[in-house]
Amino acid sequence: MTGAGRGIGRAEALALAAAGASVVVNDLGVAAGGRGSSNVPAEAVAQEIRDRGGEAVASIESVADWAAAERVVGTAVEAFGRLDIVVNNAGIVRQQMIEEIGEEDLDATIAANLKGTFAVCRHAVPVLRAAGYGRIVNTTSNQWTAPLGNAHYAASKGGVTSLTYDLAFELRGDGITVNAVAPFALTRMTADAAERDADLQARGIMSSTRAAAKEARADAALVAPLVVYLASDAAAGVSGRVFRVGGGKVGVYSHPTEVRAIFRDESSGPWPCEELADLLPRTLLAYGEGRAPHLA
Ligand SMILES: NC(=O)c1ccc[n+]([C@@H]2O[C@H](COP(=O)([O-])OP(=O)(O)OC[C@H]3O[C@@H](n4cnc5c(N)ncnc54)[C@H](O)[C@@H]3O)[C@@H](O)[C@H]2O)c1
Repeated sequence: MTGAGRGIGRAEALALAAAGASVVVNDLGVAAGGRGSSNVPAEAVAQEIRDRGGEAVASIESVADWAAAERVVGTAVEAFGRLDIVVNNAGIVRQQMIEEIGEEDLDATIAANLKGTFAVCRHAVPVLRAAGYGRIVNTTSNQWTAPLGNAHYAASKGGVTSLTYDLAFELRGDGITVNAVAPFALTRMTADAAERDADLQARGIMSSTRAAAKEARADAALVAPLVVYLASDAAAGVSGRVFRVGGGKVGVYSHPTEVRAIFRDESSGPWPCEELADLLPRTLLAYGEGRAPHLA
């Protein structure tokens, strides 16, 4: 379980342990935004689980480091002799609009969120495949359907969603399920959300309709039961799904699918642009669908 020292990850680790799982509490203990490190969060949560009678070991590794991600997987096998469940939750966000994002911001965000999730999956899959059993739960965001700036974060989470779809397909015959949750909860990541939304509204970036439609962030513990379910035997038939979860809500996203197409005889050459300009508004993008719904 990665990023298990704080917020949503801590709640999920406690819930998994309460359900009987032995937990590797991985957390690099970074500051908000991803800088620095500390062994305190991971060790505190591992101790909390042991104090409640559960089994846990701390792992102070960065999932963004390929070899360290391999050590996280190795820790589970060494400590508990097996690996059944992988919950990729570690993540960072830097609140920035596109012009404020520098190369280091982009690299750090993609590394923690996308490369970290990928690397842990990459090292875990051989162990899960060998056992013929596995439950992988990745953590994405609704940011790819309801953006608020933070384009690097949105891009990294879009990658996590695509990775989830891909792995679910690749591992479908191996007893391994792969799903993702797009959680919402009150954590240090979202503590200043109201302030930021007010700023975005003042700058004309966020409409009042969008602000009013936002889901209220509640206790991270409310996210955890869905992850425990997805990690259980009962969810053997659930794979390749992305869930929205937080507060009292559990939702499931539709799977992206092509809804309409137009065709041209390939032997008559490429589409003339003028023809596309004329046809698309009347066919693919008819009924006022030129702009994606999230731009409303
Ligand atoms: N809080 C929300 O409403 C919300 C919404 C959408 C998505 N998420 C996602 O949920 C996950 C948890 O977020 P949170 O709100 O609990 O944030 P958080 O900052 O409280 O917790 C994230 C944890 O991940 C750890 N971490 C970061 N980089 C790491 C790395 N490279 N290696 C190991 N650990 C690392 C941090 O030290 C931290 O303890 C994140 O992936 C986040 O993007 C949260």
